[in-house]
Amino acid sequence: MGELLKSLEGLRKEVKEKIDKAFSSSQLEKIKSVYLGRKGVLASSFKDLSALPEEKRREAGRIANEIKSELHKLFSQKQEYLKISDRGGKEEIFDYTLPGKKNLSGRFHPLTQLSSQIVEIFYGMGFEVVYGPDVETNYYNFDALNFPQDHPARDMMDTFYIDEKRLLRTHTSPVQIRVFEKRKPPARILAPGRVYRNEAINARSYCVFYQVEGFYVDRDVTMADLKGVLLAFFQKLFGKDVRLRFRASFFPFTEPSAEVDISCVICGGKGCSVCKHRGWLEVVGAGMIDPEVFRAVGYDPEVYSGYAFGMGIDRMALLKYRIDDIRLFWENDLRFLRQF
Ligand code: DAH
Repeated sequence: MGELLKSLEGLRKEVKEKIDKAFSSSQLEKIKSVYLGRKGVLASSFKDLSALPEEKRREAGRIANEIKSELHKLFSQKQEYLKISDRGGKEEIFDYTLPGKKNLSGRFHPLTQLSSQIVEIFYGMGFEVVYGPDVETNYYNFDALNFPQDHPARDMMDTFYIDEKRLLRTHTSPVQIRVFEKRKPPARILAPGRVYRNEAINARSYCVFYQVEGFYVDRDVTMADLKGVLLAFFQKLFGKDVRLRFRASFFPFTEPSAEVDISCVICGGKGCSVCKHRGWLEVVGAGMIDPEVFRAVGYDPEVYSGYAFGMGIDRMALLKYRIDDIRLFWENDLRFLRQF
Protein backbone atom coordinates (compact mmCIF):
# COMPACT_ATOMS: atom_id res chain seq x y z
CA MET A 1 0.00 0.00 0.00
CA GLY A 2 2.98 2.29 0.70
CA GLU A 3 3.80 2.17 -2.97
CA LEU A 4 0.32 3.11 -4.00
CA LEU A 5 0.02 6.02 -1.62
CA LYS A 6 3.33 7.34 -2.75
CA SER A 7 2.24 7.27 -6.36
CA LEU A 8 -1.06 8.97 -5.46
CA GLU A 9 0.86 11.68 -3.61
CA GLY A 10 3.14 12.13 -6.63
CA LEU A 11 0.14 12.29 -8.89
CA ARG A 12 -1.40 15.01 -6.76
CA LYS A 13 1.74 17.13 -6.92
CA GLU A 14 2.03 16.63 -10.66
CA VAL A 15 -1.58 17.59 -11.40
CA LYS A 16 -1.42 20.62 -9.11
CA GLU A 17 1.60 21.92 -10.96
CA LYS A 18 -0.07 21.39 -14.35
CA ILE A 19 -3.17 23.26 -13.21
CA ASP A 20 -1.00 26.08 -12.00
CA LYS A 21 0.76 26.42 -15.32
CA ALA A 22 -2.30 26.11 -17.54
CA PHE A 23 -3.00 29.39 -19.34
CA SER A 24 -6.15 28.67 -21.30
CA SER A 25 -9.45 26.89 -20.75
CA SER A 26 -8.85 24.43 -23.57
CA GLN A 27 -5.46 23.51 -22.22
CA LEU A 28 -6.97 23.01 -18.79
CA GLU A 29 -9.69 20.77 -20.24
CA LYS A 30 -7.09 18.55 -21.83
CA ILE A 31 -5.18 18.17 -18.57
CA LYS A 32 -8.39 17.41 -16.75
CA SER A 33 -9.36 14.60 -19.10
CA VAL A 34 -5.88 13.05 -19.01
CA TYR A 35 -5.83 12.90 -15.23
CA LEU A 36 -9.41 12.92 -14.00
CA GLY A 37 -11.22 11.53 -17.03
CA ARG A 38 -13.03 8.19 -17.00
CA LYS A 39 -10.01 6.49 -18.50
CA GLY A 40 -7.57 8.90 -16.88
CA VAL A 41 -4.57 8.38 -14.66
CA LEU A 42 -6.50 8.73 -11.43
CA ALA A 43 -9.14 6.24 -12.55
CA SER A 44 -6.48 3.62 -13.20
CA SER A 45 -5.02 4.23 -9.72
CA PHE A 46 -8.42 3.41 -8.32
CA LYS A 47 -8.30 0.14 -10.21
CA ASP A 48 -5.05 -0.69 -8.48
CA LEU A 49 -6.86 -0.33 -5.17
CA SER A 50 -8.85 -3.44 -5.80
CA ALA A 51 -5.67 -5.52 -5.57
CA LEU A 52 -5.25 -4.51 -1.89
CA PRO A 53 -6.54 -6.44 1.08
CA GLU A 54 -9.88 -5.23 2.50
CA GLU A 55 -8.68 -3.03 5.44
CA LYS A 56 -5.92 -1.31 3.55
CA ARG A 57 -8.19 -0.82 0.62
CA ARG A 58 -10.62 1.21 2.70
CA GLU A 59 -7.86 3.49 4.06
CA ALA A 60 -6.26 3.94 0.65
CA GLY A 61 -9.65 4.53 -0.94
CA ARG A 62 -10.36 7.35 1.49
CA ILE A 63 -7.08 9.03 0.67
CA ALA A 64 -7.57 8.56 -3.06
CA ASN A 65 -11.06 10.09 -2.82
CA GLU A 66 -9.70 13.05 -0.91
CA ILE A 67 -7.11 13.67 -3.60
CA LYS A 68 -9.72 13.31 -6.28
CA SER A 69 -12.07 15.90 -4.79
CA GLU A 70 -9.23 18.27 -4.04
CA LEU A 71 -8.09 18.14 -7.65
CA HIS A 72 -11.64 18.62 -8.93
CA LYS A 73 -11.88 21.71 -6.78
CA LEU A 74 -8.58 23.09 -8.09
CA PHE A 75 -9.70 22.49 -11.67
CA SER A 76 -12.90 24.39 -11.25
CA GLN A 77 -11.20 27.29 -9.45
CA LYS A 78 -8.70 27.62 -12.25
CA GLN A 79 -11.48 27.35 -14.79
CA GLU A 80 -13.24 30.34 -13.24
CA TYR A 81 -10.04 32.31 -13.23
CA LEU A 82 -9.33 31.56 -16.88
CA LYS A 83 -12.86 32.47 -17.91
CA ILE A 84 -12.18 36.01 -16.69
CA SER A 85 -8.70 36.38 -18.13
CA ASP A 86 -9.24 34.31 -21.27
CA ARG A 87 -11.04 37.06 -23.19
CA GLY A 88 -13.32 35.19 -25.55
CA GLY A 89 -11.50 31.88 -25.33
CA LYS A 90 -8.48 33.13 -27.20
CA GLU A 91 -5.31 31.50 -26.11
CA GLU A 92 -3.45 34.38 -24.63
CA ILE A 93 -2.12 35.30 -21.27
CA PHE A 94 -3.44 38.48 -19.78
CA ASP A 95 -0.42 40.22 -18.40
CA TYR A 96 -1.49 42.42 -15.52
CA THR A 97 1.98 43.92 -15.23
CA LEU A 98 1.85 45.65 -18.63
CA PRO A 99 1.43 49.45 -18.47
CA GLY A 100 -2.07 50.66 -19.39
CA LYS A 101 -2.96 52.24 -22.70
CA LYS A 102 -3.05 56.02 -22.58
CA ASN A 103 -6.20 57.64 -23.90
CA LEU A 104 -5.13 60.81 -25.65
CA SER A 105 -7.85 63.40 -25.31
CA GLY A 106 -8.47 66.07 -27.91
CA ARG A 107 -8.47 69.76 -27.13
CA PHE A 108 -9.32 73.03 -28.77
CA HIS A 109 -6.81 74.73 -31.01
CA PRO A 110 -5.14 77.70 -29.27
CA LEU A 111 -6.80 80.12 -31.70
CA THR A 112 -10.19 78.59 -30.96
CA GLN A 113 -9.48 78.86 -27.25
CA LEU A 114 -8.57 82.52 -27.50
CA SER A 115 -11.51 83.23 -29.78
CA SER A 116 -13.88 81.69 -27.21
CA GLN A 117 -12.28 83.74 -24.48
CA ILE A 118 -12.74 86.95 -26.47
CA VAL A 119 -16.34 86.07 -27.25
CA GLU A 120 -17.01 85.36 -23.59
CA ILE A 121 -15.66 88.73 -22.45
CA PHE A 122 -17.78 90.65 -24.94
CA TYR A 123 -20.77 88.44 -24.23
CA GLY A 124 -20.47 89.63 -20.63
CA MET A 125 -20.77 93.20 -21.90
CA GLY A 126 -24.00 92.53 -23.78
CA PHE A 127 -22.68 91.59 -27.22
CA GLU A 128 -24.41 88.98 -29.32
CA VAL A 129 -22.41 86.66 -31.58
CA VAL A 130 -23.14 86.51 -35.32
CA TYR A 131 -21.26 84.67 -38.08
CA GLY A 132 -20.91 85.67 -41.70
CA PRO A 133 -19.87 83.59 -44.72
CA ASP A 134 -16.21 83.13 -45.69
CA VAL A 135 -17.14 83.50 -49.36
CA GLU A 136 -18.40 87.03 -49.77
CA THR A 137 -19.45 89.21 -52.64
CA ASN A 138 -17.72 92.37 -53.76
CA TYR A 139 -20.74 94.20 -52.50
CA TYR A 140 -20.52 93.13 -48.86
CA ASN A 141 -16.73 93.06 -48.65
CA PHE A 142 -16.12 96.43 -50.36
CA ASP A 143 -18.98 98.38 -51.99
CA ALA A 144 -21.39 98.62 -49.07
CA LEU A 145 -18.47 99.45 -46.79
CA ASN A 146 -17.86 102.56 -48.82
CA PHE A 147 -14.74 101.42 -50.68
CA PRO A 148 -14.80 103.38 -53.98
CA GLN A 149 -14.53 101.25 -57.14
CA ASP A 150 -10.96 102.33 -57.77
CA HIS A 151 -9.95 102.41 -54.14
CA PRO A 152 -6.42 101.08 -53.77
CA ALA A 153 -7.51 99.09 -50.70
CA ARG A 154 -9.12 96.58 -53.06
CA ASP A 155 -5.64 95.74 -54.33
CA MET A 156 -3.86 96.49 -51.11
CA MET A 157 -5.82 93.77 -49.45
CA ASP A 158 -4.50 91.24 -51.96
CA THR A 159 -7.85 89.65 -52.35
CA PHE A 160 -8.44 86.03 -53.40
CA TYR A 161 -11.14 86.34 -56.06
CA ILE A 162 -13.34 83.39 -56.98
CA ASP A 163 -14.90 85.17 -59.95
CA GLU A 164 -15.90 88.74 -60.87
CA LYS A 165 -18.35 89.02 -58.01
CA ARG A 166 -17.24 86.56 -55.38
CA LEU A 167 -14.16 86.50 -53.19
CA LEU A 168 -12.82 85.15 -49.93
CA ARG A 169 -13.58 87.89 -47.43
CA THR A 170 -10.58 90.00 -46.57
CA HIS A 171 -12.01 91.13 -43.24
CA THR A 172 -14.98 90.52 -40.93
CA SER A 173 -16.44 94.01 -41.51
CA PRO A 174 -18.96 92.76 -44.13
CA VAL A 175 -20.86 91.13 -41.25
CA GLN A 176 -21.85 94.69 -40.26
CA ILE A 177 -23.75 95.09 -43.52
CA ARG A 178 -25.38 91.65 -43.28
CA VAL A 179 -26.64 92.44 -39.80
CA PHE A 180 -27.82 95.99 -40.63
CA GLU A 181 -29.78 94.69 -43.62
CA LYS A 182 -31.69 92.26 -41.46
CA ARG A 183 -32.53 94.28 -38.38
CA LYS A 184 -33.23 97.63 -36.88
CA PRO A 185 -31.05 99.24 -34.18
CA PRO A 186 -30.10 98.73 -31.45
CA ALA A 187 -27.57 96.06 -32.42
CA ARG A 188 -24.57 95.12 -30.31
CA ILE A 189 -22.74 92.42 -32.22
CA LEU A 190 -19.53 90.44 -32.16
CA ALA A 191 -18.50 88.59 -35.33
CA PRO A 192 -15.47 86.31 -35.13
CA GLY A 193 -14.21 84.37 -38.13
CA ARG A 194 -11.61 83.52 -40.73
CA VAL A 195 -10.38 86.05 -43.26
CA TYR A 196 -8.11 85.62 -46.25
CA ARG A 197 -5.42 87.72 -47.89
CA ASN A 198 -2.96 86.83 -50.57
CA GLU A 199 0.04 87.85 -48.53
CA ALA A 200 3.53 86.46 -48.41
CA ILE A 201 3.76 83.90 -45.64
CA ASN A 202 6.30 84.62 -42.94
CA ALA A 203 6.67 84.60 -39.16
CA ARG A 204 4.34 87.60 -38.81
CA SER A 205 1.69 87.00 -41.45
CA TYR A 206 -0.23 84.16 -43.05
CA CYS A 207 -2.69 84.02 -45.95
CA VAL A 208 -5.50 82.94 -43.61
CA PHE A 209 -6.10 84.42 -40.21
CA TYR A 210 -8.81 85.18 -37.70
CA GLN A 211 -10.45 88.47 -36.92
CA VAL A 212 -13.15 89.53 -34.60
CA GLU A 213 -15.44 92.39 -35.52
CA GLY A 214 -17.46 94.28 -32.97
CA PHE A 215 -20.02 97.01 -33.47
CA TYR A 216 -22.79 98.80 -31.66
CA VAL A 217 -25.47 100.92 -33.26
CA ASP A 218 -28.10 102.84 -31.35
CA ARG A 219 -29.13 106.42 -30.67
CA ASP A 220 -26.34 108.51 -29.13
CA VAL A 221 -23.49 106.04 -29.34
CA THR A 222 -20.18 107.88 -28.99
CA MET A 223 -16.48 107.31 -29.29
CA ALA A 224 -16.34 107.34 -25.48
CA ASP A 225 -18.47 104.16 -25.50
CA LEU A 226 -15.95 102.61 -27.86
CA LYS A 227 -13.06 103.53 -25.61
CA GLY A 228 -14.80 102.18 -22.54
CA VAL A 229 -15.65 98.85 -24.12
CA LEU A 230 -12.17 98.33 -25.56
CA LEU A 231 -10.44 99.25 -22.31
CA ALA A 232 -12.65 96.89 -20.29
CA PHE A 233 -11.98 94.16 -22.84
CA PHE A 234 -8.19 94.46 -22.89
CA GLN A 235 -7.96 94.71 -19.13
CA LYS A 236 -9.93 91.47 -18.84
CA LEU A 237 -7.74 89.77 -21.44
CA PHE A 238 -4.29 91.04 -20.48
CA GLY A 239 -4.67 92.40 -16.95
CA LYS A 240 -5.60 95.61 -15.17
CA ASP A 241 -2.43 97.51 -16.05
CA VAL A 242 -3.13 97.68 -19.79
CA ARG A 243 -3.52 101.21 -21.15
CA LEU A 244 -5.05 102.28 -24.48
CA ARG A 245 -3.96 104.86 -27.02
CA PHE A 246 -6.03 106.08 -29.97
CA ARG A 247 -4.24 107.37 -33.07
CA ALA A 248 -6.06 109.07 -35.93
CA SER A 249 -6.30 106.83 -39.00
CA PHE A 250 -8.46 106.15 -42.02
CA PHE A 251 -10.90 103.40 -42.99
CA PRO A 252 -13.53 103.90 -45.73
CA PHE A 253 -16.32 102.62 -43.47
CA THR A 254 -15.59 104.72 -40.36
CA GLU A 255 -15.36 108.46 -39.71
CA PRO A 256 -13.49 109.40 -37.64
CA SER A 257 -11.21 106.35 -37.68
CA ALA A 258 -8.55 105.27 -35.25
CA GLU A 259 -5.80 102.75 -34.78
CA VAL A 260 -5.91 101.59 -31.20
CA ASP A 261 -2.70 100.62 -29.42
CA ILE A 262 -2.37 98.86 -26.10
CA SER A 263 0.59 99.32 -23.80
CA CYS A 264 3.03 96.49 -24.48
CA VAL A 265 1.85 93.38 -22.62
CA ILE A 266 5.38 92.00 -22.51
CA CYS A 267 7.34 94.96 -21.07
CA GLY A 268 4.46 97.02 -19.67
CA GLY A 269 5.45 99.97 -21.87
CA LYS A 270 9.12 100.29 -21.02
CA GLY A 271 10.18 99.07 -24.44
CA CYS A 272 11.27 95.61 -25.59
CA SER A 273 11.89 93.67 -28.79
CA VAL A 274 8.21 92.70 -29.14
CA CYS A 275 7.00 96.34 -29.19
CA LYS A 276 10.16 97.35 -31.06
CA HIS A 277 11.00 99.63 -28.15
CA ARG A 278 7.92 101.76 -28.69
CA GLY A 279 6.11 100.57 -25.58
CA TRP A 280 2.87 100.24 -27.61
CA LEU A 281 1.31 97.48 -29.70
CA GLU A 282 -1.06 98.22 -32.57
CA VAL A 283 -3.94 95.78 -32.15
CA VAL A 284 -7.24 97.30 -33.28
CA GLY A 285 -8.75 99.26 -36.15
CA ALA A 286 -11.83 101.18 -35.08
CA GLY A 287 -14.01 104.23 -35.54
CA MET A 288 -17.50 105.66 -35.74
CA ILE A 289 -19.50 103.99 -38.50
CA ASP A 290 -19.54 106.21 -41.58
CA PRO A 291 -22.92 107.79 -42.51
CA GLU A 292 -22.41 106.37 -46.03
CA VAL A 293 -22.55 102.85 -44.59
CA PHE A 294 -25.79 103.68 -42.79
CA ARG A 295 -27.26 105.08 -45.99
CA ALA A 296 -26.34 101.90 -47.91
CA VAL A 297 -28.44 99.81 -45.51
CA GLY A 298 -31.28 102.29 -45.02
CA TYR A 299 -30.45 103.50 -41.50
CA ASP A 300 -30.94 107.23 -40.93
CA PRO A 301 -27.53 108.66 -39.93
CA GLU A 302 -29.31 111.63 -38.36
CA VAL A 303 -31.00 109.27 -35.89
CA TYR A 304 -28.45 106.56 -35.31
CA SER A 305 -24.77 106.44 -34.60
CA GLY A 306 -22.46 103.53 -33.92
CA TYR A 307 -18.95 102.41 -33.39
CA ALA A 308 -17.10 99.50 -34.97
CA PHE A 309 -13.80 97.81 -34.32
CA GLY A 310 -11.83 94.92 -35.76
CA MET A 311 -8.86 93.01 -34.45
CA GLY A 312 -6.67 90.09 -35.42
CA ILE A 313 -7.00 87.08 -33.16
CA ASP A 314 -3.77 85.42 -34.33
CA ARG A 315 -1.79 88.54 -33.57
CA MET A 316 -3.32 88.65 -30.10
CA ALA A 317 -2.53 84.96 -29.58
CA LEU A 318 1.14 85.64 -30.36
CA LEU A 319 1.15 88.22 -27.58
CA LYS A 320 -0.89 86.26 -25.10
CA TYR A 321 1.00 82.99 -25.48
CA ARG A 322 4.36 84.68 -26.20
CA ILE A 323 4.92 82.95 -29.51
CA ASP A 324 7.11 84.47 -32.18
CA ASP A 325 6.00 82.62 -35.31
CA ILE A 326 2.41 82.74 -36.56
CA ARG A 327 2.96 79.71 -38.82
CA LEU A 328 2.99 77.45 -35.76
CA PHE A 329 -0.78 77.91 -35.59
CA TRP A 330 -1.21 76.29 -38.99
CA GLU A 331 1.32 73.48 -38.96
CA ASN A 332 -0.68 71.44 -36.44
CA ASP A 333 2.41 69.92 -34.92
CA LEU A 334 1.10 68.05 -31.88
CA ARG A 335 4.20 68.92 -29.87
CA PHE A 336 3.11 72.55 -30.20
CA LEU A 337 -0.65 72.06 -29.82
CA ARG A 338 -0.36 69.87 -26.71
CA GLN A 339 1.08 72.79 -24.79
CA PHE A 340 -2.29 74.56 -24.74
N1 DAH B 1 -11.64 95.68 -41.33
C1 DAH B 1 -10.40 96.32 -40.96
C2 DAH B 1 -9.21 95.48 -41.40
O1 DAH B 1 -9.36 94.32 -41.64
C3 DAH B 1 -10.33 96.49 -39.47
C4 DAH B 1 -11.33 97.47 -38.98
C5 DAH B 1 -11.01 98.81 -38.93
C6 DAH B 1 -12.56 97.05 -38.57
C7 DAH B 1 -11.91 99.73 -38.47
C8 DAH B 1 -13.49 97.97 -38.11
C9 DAH B 1 -13.14 99.35 -38.07
O2 DAH B 1 -14.71 97.62 -37.71
O3 DAH B 1 -14.04 100.22 -37.58
O4 DAH B 1 -8.13 95.99 -41.50
